[in-house]
Amino acid sequence: MRALILVGGFGTRLRPLTLTMPKPLVPFCNKPMIIHQVEALKEAGVTDIILAVAYRPEAMKAEMEEWGRQIGVTFIFSHETEPLGTAGPLALARDELLKDDQPFFVLNSDVTCKFPLRELLAFHRKHGHEGTIMVTKVQEWHKYGVVVYDETSGLIDQFVEKPKKFVGDKINSGIYCFNKSILNRIKLEKTSIETQVFPQMASSKELYCMELEGFWMDIGQPHDYIDGIAKYLPSILGTPKESESLFNEQTAKDLHFSVVGCVMIDPTAEIGAGCVLGPNVTVGKNCKIGPSCRIQNSAIFENTVIGAGAYISKTIIGWNNIVGRWCRIENNAVFGDDVQVKPELHLNGVKVLPNKTISQSYDKPEVLM
Ligand code: GDD
Ligand code: MG
Repeated sequence: MRALILVGGFGTRLRPLTLTMPKPLVPFCNKPMIIHQVEALKEAGVTDIILAVAYRPEAMKAEMEEWGRQIGVTFIFSHETEPLGTAGPLALARDELLKDDQPFFVLNSDVTCKFPLRELLAFHRKHGHEGTIMVTKVQEWHKYGVVVYDETSGLIDQFVEKPKKFVGDKINSGIYCFNKSILNRIKLEKTSIETQVFPQMASSKELYCMELEGFWMDIGQPHDYIDGIAKYLPSILGTPKESESLFNEQTAKDLHFSVVGCVMIDPTAEIGAGCVLGPNVTVGKNCKIGPSCRIQNSAIFENTVIGAGAYISKTIIGWNNIVGRWCRIENNAVFGDDVQVKPELHLNGVKVLPNKTISQSYDKPEVLM
């Protein structure tokens, strides 16, 4: 089977992380975001994955090919010279998608969930129509594509992208299964699957949906990324592959630091004595966390050093950072690559661009260039 991942895009909402790394390679729970999807696709029987890239494919190629070898899938890069939206990339990859006679999966690259793709495929085959969307219930329906459908059959009556008025709270999760015939609806030009293709399929009664079990999150912006960690970590607790780097209150009992809720700590990271980590913290490769730090609801990317007694809450600390002792960093702060923070500073909600040294406190959110 084949699949296409909509890689996109500049990832502007995840800046400053995406200033030095394409969004799909930004780590989520210590693994590039897109690799969660690639593993799920492989698990569902996909062998060839088309990466629909609208920006800097060369920045991804070497790393993705290495992952492809490890996981056992082949990547085909489909590069748009002009962004083609969320449907145009299917037309561009038409020849590749037609190379096998099965239905194919399409995924947005910035969502996290359990990816029950085998169940999706089985349901798709059962109703026998052109497309199936996985849907999930959310509170902030206005941020997504809302789907109105018959709860018994799953037949979609209406698809409304980012509605201003309430039409429902079941939304498009960005996970699809399509028959090849969908390609006849899409021209090779900038086209939105949500506003141009889905409404048309719904009116010809060719679009169905299936409810997604469990958690789901679009992790394409800092606040949601941090919420996503809180949903993802408990969901993998006890799964063999991840368990070696995942801790909770029970498994951390004999360690020299304490854990609240779930935390994921790469085996190469060093955690100082007396730290309290969690809930919902990820610590990447080769990080060094000084003694007596308090870290919650945050991600610390590879090769970062945190000084003693730092307090970090709801923050994403990028790669290769050095944070001084006794700093207090909170409220959806995001640091790019290679940021240094002098000791004893308070940083509230700041976005710090790569290669920057911070020597004073910022009590209000702002972008530090
Ligand atoms: N190749 C390519 N070219 N990919 C693109 C382009 C493009 O021009 N534009 C966007 N993408 C990719 C993005 O990288 C992302 O993986 C996916 O398409 C969706 O784009 P977003 O920009 O993240 O859209 P959204 O989050 O506002 O809304 C979409 O996702 C929601 C679920 O998270 C829609 O599909 C909504 O209906 C849906 O509810
Ligand atoms: Mg998105």
